[in-house]
Amino acid sequence: MNDSDRFFSVATAIAGDARAAGKETVASQVETAVKHAQAEIQKTKGGFTPLGLPIVQSKELEGLVSGTTSESRLTDLIVDDRLHGKIARLLREHREADRLRNAGLQPRRKILLSGPPGTGKGLTATVIAGELGLPLYKILLDGVISKFMGETSSKLRLIFEAIKKSPGVYFFDEIDALAARRGLDDVGEARRMLNSLLVFLEEDQSESVILAATNHPGLLDGAIFRRFDAALHYDLPSDDRIRRVVQTAVGGCTFAGVDWESVVAAGKGLSQAELLIGVADAARSAVLDHDGIVSDGLLLESLWDRQGASPSKT
Ligand SMILES: Nc1ncnc2c1ncn2[C@@H]1O[C@H](COP(=O)(O)OP(=O)(O)OP(=O)(O)O)[C@@H](O)[C@H]1O
Ligand SMILES: [Mg+2]
Repeated sequence: MNDSDRFFSVATAIAGDARAAGKETVASQVETAVKHAQAEIQKTKGGFTPLGLPIVQSKELEGLVSGTTSESRLTDLIVDDRLHGKIARLLREHREADRLRNAGLQPRRKILLSGPPGTGKGLTATVIAGELGLPLYKILLDGVISKFMGETSSKLRLIFEAIKKSPGVYFFDEIDALAARRGLDDVGEARRMLNSLLVFLEEDQSESVILAATNHPGLLDGAIFRRFDAALHYDLPSDDRIRRVVQTAVGGCTFAGVDWESVVAAGKGLSQAELLIGVADAARSAVLDHDGIVSDGLLLESLWDRQGASPSKT
């Protein structure tokens, strides 16, 4: 037993004595303090969320689900006001779930995220987990799709049992991969998985948040959309969002007389993720060769470079 374990066992014993002596208030105050202190310690050890919820990693889920914690905040996500407002509203529904339930309503829990690569779908999953203090579980679709008939569905069943037992944010990324593979005769298993996923989604009555992301909403049929409580659409950043991404991405560097209009023009058509990569490159050059000062020249060069590398331009 280490020092802190010894401390907690003494404190718990004191709480017990206090209760036995009829001092219920003191007893429960000490117990609450112990619980909070233990949660803090677990947090620093990792494997626990800010609320002290454990990351469940059972043997059964190995290779199917990977769990992490998140400290991300909504302010980390740079999207248009409409989408920002929709996500803020979803978060509020969960924070004020009791008020909704008292009125016979539920917070929306099954959410479809769609839009081009690098626009923040994955980041949204970490933001929702971070804001709600829930563990984030990413579903490893490759692990779920089984070569053996029937196994896919039983693996999905395991995942949905975890969704029910362990509250968290569960993220099914790139679900269009399943839909896209529909129709190819040798991959009936992907199709079976998609169908099972839809059935499990429909039956789910848990308290977890279930997110599914796709780059190709066009590949998903109406049957899929109907299973979700909300659909969020992500877009390439508008001009003022391009500017915000660039400004947040320079880290400790400073700007010198930047002509934003030409920088924004150079960044047009790039995703948030691509902009960040380009600007980080400009910042590296600034640190190594220009006393940490980021000029338009550096920004334009790295953004044009990125435009060349961008899949949408090739
Ligand atoms: N809207 C955004 N605001 C701030 N940063 C972003 C945004 N979109 C992307 N990023 C940055 O780019 C990284 C990758 O983005 P993310 O994984 O969220 O994209 P995605 O939409 O899931 O793309 P993909 O469809 O390729 O998986 C993020 O971790 C984040 O650093
Ligand atoms: Mg992603």
